[in-house]
Amino acid sequence: MACTMERSKIQVIYDACNAVFSQKELPTFQQIQWLRNLLDKTKAIDLGIDEFGFCGSSPSSSPTSVEGLIRGQDVSDITYIHIHECDNFSIGVFCFPAGGVFPLHDHPRMTVLSKLLYGSVHVKAYDWVKVVNSGCQTYGLAGSVVDGILKAPCEASVLFPRSGGNIHSFTALTPCAVLDVLSPPYSEELGRPSTYFSDFPVPFLSGYAVLKEKRLPDDLVVIGAPYLGPPIVTQNDLS
Ligand SMILES: [Fe+2]
Repeated sequence: MACTMERSKIQVIYDACNAVFSQKELPTFQQIQWLRNLLDKTKAIDLGIDEFGFCGSSPSSSPTSVEGLIRGQDVSDITYIHIHECDNFSIGVFCFPAGGVFPLHDHPRMTVLSKLLYGSVHVKAYDWVKVVNSGCQTYGLAGSVVDGILKAPCEASVLFPRSGGNIHSFTALTPCAVLDVLSPPYSEELGRPSTYFSDFPVPFLSGYAVLKEKRLPDDLVVIGAPYLGPPIVTQNDLS
């Protein structure tokens, strides 16, 4: 008898990422479009997040509701919901409170798909024009790729190692959440750390800025929350 169990949306995304990012070759344009379309079909509720959920109790209370969902409107710090990580890719969701700022950071040698699930966010993104690594600091000239507001529903965005806005920042204008697929994932050991930057506009050269590496900002607080969506059957579970 044929199996009629429908795969969850996150299972479909996992299976697609596994097919695309486990191959030796770089992903093709069609494969990236395929993943992008899958992210576009995904809603917060498919990932165990109630975008409208609000409890209204003390701000320090857990954002998890009795129904077993993360309450999107109750998030008081930037919250990372880890869904999956393997050598080839990672999947997770960042939930932001209104006003939450994730400062400029890069994604070395990575392809990143991001889907705004709900809310609105100001996004700034740059690509390097000329970058210098002095050994103790990375700095250089960068061109602006995005400087505007994203409001859900909107299409997933994609950035690449050298294009699409590899260095970006988010400022939440309302409570919002971003589903992120990173390939390969960040790894200090494998030379893919996350580096933070300050940007300085270049006078008389609109659309460009000097970016200078800075230390991990003290005021950046990211807490973790459990993933409460449908479980994923991974490649490891099958082997
Ligand atoms: Fe990022």
